[in-house]
Amino acid sequence: MKVLITGGAGYIGSHMALELLDQGNDVVILDNLTSGSKKIVPSNATFIEGDISNLNLVQSIFDDHDIEAVTHFAGSVKVEDSVKNPFKYYENNSFKTLKFVDFLTKSNVKKLIFSSTAAVYEEKKSGLISESHTCNPSNPYGQSKLMCENIIRDLCKGTNLKFFILRYFNVAGADIQLRSGQIDENSNHLIKACIDCVLEKRKLIEIYGLDYDTDDGSCVRDFIHVSDLISGHLLAVEHLVKGGDSDICNLGYGKGLSVLEIVDKVKKISKINFTTKIVGRRSGDASRVVADSNKMMTKYNWKPKLDDIDTIILTALNWEKQKLKKNYEA
Ligand SMILES: NC(=O)c1ccc[n+]([C@@H]2O[C@H](COP(=O)([O-])OP(=O)(O)OC[C@H]3O[C@@H](n4cnc5c(N)ncnc54)[C@H](O)[C@@H]3O)[C@@H](O)[C@H]2O)c1
Repeated sequence: MKVLITGGAGYIGSHMALELLDQGNDVVILDNLTSGSKKIVPSNATFIEGDISNLNLVQSIFDDHDIEAVTHFAGSVKVEDSVKNPFKYYENNSFKTLKFVDFLTKSNVKKLIFSSTAAVYEEKKSGLISESHTCNPSNPYGQSKLMCENIIRDLCKGTNLKFFILRYFNVAGADIQLRSGQIDENSNHLIKACIDCVLEKRKLIEIYGLDYDTDDGSCVRDFIHVSDLISGHLLAVEHLVKGGDSDICNLGYGKGLSVLEIVDKVKKISKINFTTKIVGRRSGDASRVVADSNKMMTKYNWKPKLDDIDTIILTALNWEKQKLKKNYEA
């Protein structure tokens, strides 16, 4: 099978490329390299530099390759940035997805996997968030992704294009063989930021609020290893290939870890006691975001294999060390 991966030069998309190639599939990557890098594009993938909204280019890809499924990872991904610059998010995520998916509905491709996010949900102060929880994003990033979901749902109606929307919780870690990992040095994911402190690329970690209604007062998140996230995508592709119906599923472990717990874990694993500074709350941060992924596990038999925070942190740490050694930064 030949799969088109938009955003395949980015953190998560590159892991999808590796997994599909490992399983004997062909991969075509379309990426404009705004936050991705050719350095993590597998050498046996076909790489095309360009934008998903360049429909002439997209048409030429479909002319040149027999694409069976599309996995759409391309997008702008930083919550704080979206608060400062909402236009960029509505344009790059929603508007360009509108154009791209409209194109797909008129093409021969019948399977679309879309990267969505837990940021589409309304805050839930306790318990796990299932797919039926109300969607009510608290920032432009989440809004832009929810708009993408609605666009996909509405445009696919009455066409042959089936979709599988996956809502990710906090994706972290790196490929066990260290073939890929986080490549965007501007990424402000918590674990990456802690590791940057360990490697002295950053002076300190700011903790945004210790007055949340959680056990230790810091925010609680559900961290999922990127390779487990990708195994969920493979099941989604398989489901659509077998003629299954469109669906939406969460991908997370259902385990909450607080910001303070993560900081502590990174310090223990790295044996480096970096500096932390408590600052005020950040706007748009929910106190607790933990997945109910029961649907993905029971309906699609998703079995996470790396559900262990030490493995997540260790693979991320080893990846960042390797990047430094190979002077690999994007
Ligand atoms: N990282 C997370 O924790 C997380 C959580 C939830 C959802 N997601 C979603 O997963 C997807 C991938 O995220 P990531 O963490 O790998 O981010 P990333 O920034 O590493 O990857 C995004 C890739 O898309 C490319 N890109 C951006 N706009 C493009 C465009 N218009 N045309 C072509 N290429 C474009 C970038 O160059 C980059 O390579 C995103 O859609 C994001 O919203 C990520």
